Amino acid sequence: MASFNILAVVVMLAGLIVLFLMFYKSSFTSPKCHLRPSNPVKVAKDAAKPVLLLWFWPEGKTFDLQDCKKLWEIDGCHLTDDKSLYSKAQAVLLFHNAIRDDRSNLPTSPRARFQRWIWFNMDSPNNIRKIEGIEALFNLTLSYRRDADIYVRWKLMIKKNINEDFVLPKKERLLCWIVDSYGLQNKTGDKYNYYRELIKHIEVDVFYSRSNSSLKENYFQTISSCKFYLSFEDSIYRDGITEKFNEPLVAGTVPIALGPPRLDYEYFVPGSSFIHVNDFPDVAKLVEHLETLDKDNAAYMQYFEWRRFYKVRQHPVEEKHMFAHAICQACHYISIRKEYRAIPDLYKWISQ
Ligand SMILES: *[C@@H]1O[C@H](CO)[C@@H](O)[C@H](O)[C@H]1NC(C)=O
Ligand SMILES: *[C@@H]1O[C@H](CO)[C@@H](O)[C@H](O)[C@H]1NC(C)=O
Ligand SMILES: *[C@@H]1O[C@H](CO)[C@@H](O)[C@H](O)[C@H]1NC(C)=O
Repeated sequence: MASFNILAVVVMLAGLIVLFLMFYKSSFTSPKCHLRPSNPVKVAKDAAKPVLLLWFWPEGKTFDLQDCKKLWEIDGCHLTDDKSLYSKAQAVLLFHNAIRDDRSNLPTSPRARFQRWIWFNMDSPNNIRKIEGIEALFNLTLSYRRDADIYVRWKLMIKKNINEDFVLPKKERLLCWIVDSYGLQNKTGDKYNYYRELIKHIEVDVFYSRSNSSLKENYFQTISSCKFYLSFEDSIYRDGITEKFNEPLVAGTVPIALGPPRLDYEYFVPGSSFIHVNDFPDVAKLVEHLETLDKDNAAYMQYFEWRRFYKVRQHPVEEKHMFAHAICQACHYISIRKEYRAIPDLYKWISQ
């Protein structure tokens, strides 16, 4: 009787082992399994992400589609340049400058009910080419303008570690300017006019970026070797603040801003972090102020007080990343905002 029981147990165990092996084999070696995604959870998540279709690469500057995640931890959308995903795309990003005058390179298939078209422009208003027939095409705007749906600006970040001390870089020069071309004497425009007034009162160390290859490598180092830097914008327009202003902040130098009014800047950075040319009634008074600060280190250091609470972010310096941050911000936007919107007249908004 007992031996019969033992036999029964052995048979049962053997059966279980065979069953287990069959299961093991089928789940690990059957050819079907090779079709299974290696990480089903991640794929499911990706599929749920809204698709952002980059219809044109702005100025042909392509970058790795993973860069949004790598550089800015933006991972809320499925960014693609694959036009075959058009009908699935929750948003289509259209770079204004790439649109042909006859609109022949715009998507031609009908737009899905959920799909939003994003107008993408980084040019100053007087440089925007007028394309007939696109004024009511878009649902969202992406630009440097603060009142754009998605605006691109380098905001200062709140510092996490307040104990981190700021060390002023070594200063070898008083006032510097990096410009891209020669002929400063003959150029027209506000920034050149102001520069020509300035050099009547003070010496400016000018670096020509086009002809100086060593400057490219030492760009930030060169700016940080100066106490003050001319952050002069090419043209003056609403919210037109560029990397020319961001660079000295990154480098540990005081920017002297010529561009939109001071209040525009103060929306992005603390008012005590920079000098604005309009703070002074004339060029001579500005120069007087610079000379005072040059002699009074404590007063000069006041311009860096903000660093106890804020940290400035360096904008991407690589050419290929020129538009990357804007594109990634669009990605972030569509991952969190879904509402319906139609822009009745794009050009009317631009000219405001
Ligand atoms: C540009 O300025 C320089 C220096 O002031 C002057 O010698 C030259 O004639 C000017 N050129 C033109 C084209 O106006
Ligand atoms: C080129 O730039 C470097 C800084 O990187 C500077 O030291 C040098 O004087 C510049 N040369 C000219 C000709 O401006
Ligand atoms: C986007 O804008 C177009 C054109 O104004 C409009 O027809 C469409 O309904 C809008 N779609 C969404 C999702 O906002």
